[in-house]
Amino acid sequence: MSKEVLTVAPTDTVTSACALMLERGVGSTVVLHDDRPVGILTERDLVRITADGADLATAMVSQWMTADPDSVASNAPVNDAFVSLRKHGYRHFPVVDGGRLVGIVSLRDLLKLAPILQIEDPGLPESRRGLEGVMVAETAVGDVRGTEGFYHYRQYNATELAEKRSMEDVWHLLYEGHLPDRAEREAFTAEIASLRQIPPAVKELLPAIANAGETFVPLDALRSAYSTLATSVGFRSWMDIDRATLRENAMRTSAVMPTLIMALYRLSQGKDPIDPHPDLSYAANYLYMLTGEVPDPGHARAIEQYLISTTDHGFNSSTFTARVITSTGADLGSAVVGAIGALSGPLHGGAPSRALDMLDAIGTPDQADAWIRQHVLAGEKIMGFGHRIYKTDDPRSVMLRGVAERLGGPMVDFAKQVEKTVVAVLAELKPGRQLYANVEFYAGVVMANVGLPRTLFTPTFTSSRVIGWTSHVLEQAADNRLIRPSAHYDGPPPPVPVPVPDTD
Ligand SMILES: CC(C)(COP(=O)(O)OP(=O)(O)OC[C@H]1O[C@@H](n2cnc3c(N)ncnc32)[C@H](O)[C@@H]1OP(=O)(O)O)[C@@H](O)C(=O)NCCC(=O)NCCS
Repeated sequence: MSKEVLTVAPTDTVTSACALMLERGVGSTVVLHDDRPVGILTERDLVRITADGADLATAMVSQWMTADPDSVASNAPVNDAFVSLRKHGYRHFPVVDGGRLVGIVSLRDLLKLAPILQIEDPGLPESRRGLEGVMVAETAVGDVRGTEGFYHYRQYNATELAEKRSMEDVWHLLYEGHLPDRAEREAFTAEIASLRQIPPAVKELLPAIANAGETFVPLDALRSAYSTLATSVGFRSWMDIDRATLRENAMRTSAVMPTLIMALYRLSQGKDPIDPHPDLSYAANYLYMLTGEVPDPGHARAIEQYLISTTDHGFNSSTFTARVITSTGADLGSAVVGAIGALSGPLHGGAPSRALDMLDAIGTPDQADAWIRQHVLAGEKIMGFGHRIYKTDDPRSVMLRGVAERLGGPMVDFAKQVEKTVVAVLAELKPGRQLYANVEFYAGVVMANVGLPRTLFTPTFTSSRVIGWTSHVLEQAADNRLIRPSAHYDGPPPPVPVPVPDTD
């Protein structure tokens, strides 16, 4: 160990601690109170301080240090200290004797000693493919319990919310942390209505965006149009605006998304966009903007239940994307554009229209078994089945099956027969994988039955999930730490000398 430890007091300023670290050329300093280590301030903490925009001249070490650091006893075997540092990913350990600081031991020193003392290197923790099972943050927005087939928004069962409450209520719950009372609901609904309109400067550009490609790809068009809107209304880094402005960015984004989706779709069909209906609920207005007709209340409620059930879902890929982008201090618009990109993939949000395409391809119930078998044996995935977290029925699929049954129609019975066959064939051909219908399978059936064209399935999913994304952006910004994981390098061993370029 090194006996010359750089120490500072909890009451020192971060600036003075940084100056000492620079002067001594070290990456951390132990914080001492009465000769006892009460904290450690590392380069990682300095990054956190900078990202939080704290005033370094007045910020005190005690506010930013990692309190009660792990330490090692001076008589502990070197091997134990080494294993512990490697396992925890620490670079330094204070060394204590009877609780008093006597030195510091660094991973660099121990790595040099390892071959001499023949210490066995336990290596770094294994990387988890696809980050499966890795906890990456604390959240109070909601969670998914895969083995129970249960998910919740805040403290409420999400499917129960979809049975009993409106989209506006659930949105309020996610943003404000509680379900609204009557007065809060009225104020919140009025606020949404005031933010549904597309700003004129963006509206003018929509025909060009809707007709930019050879074929209309709705989510690509939405990503472009929303990005333009975020630029036009001047969203800025959340580090440069106050909390109320960030919340306004979030409200505006979630309120305008359905209007953008429907305007782009109609333009791609050569039709004029329809302005939002001031008196209709969120869900009824969504269907209204497609046709200009006030929808059947049963259809409006069905799509509302779909929207509520897909508003949030733990740390799914697009939500995680939004949080990663937010963690860098980027503006809310960038986080949402990135999340739309993540959602567009067929392994995430791009499956519902593919599930219906599959029903078309199967054609009749008697052909289901052979069709599914052939595709699974060819190594293909059956769209609308399987889930990273759920190893039992996806509660959203169970709820949406009920909504589909309520709507009725021949497609519903056919879908139920195909579901049974897929589950049975997958259990036989992929034993032990526990593959069941996920949200996407009945989502397609419900959306088709209320009159939404297939190209609008994934954008419709986006219109509800954006409320989840922005709730997470607000939460990430309120207690931020840069998300920056590591990876195991498994390429050719470096450093290889860089070859001199060939010359003629
Ligand atoms: C959702 C999904 C991406 C989860 O993926 P994951 O947790 O990474 O699971 P994996 O892809 O590793 O699958 C594990 C095993 O089950 C199989 N499997 C998973 N979903 C399957 C499906 N829908 N059809 C056929 N086999 C499937 C895989 O082939 C794999 O088998 P193997 O062990 O023989 O290699 C995956 O189930 C899938 O691609 N489903 C279809 C797309 C879909 O419906 N997406 C919407 C999700 S809400």
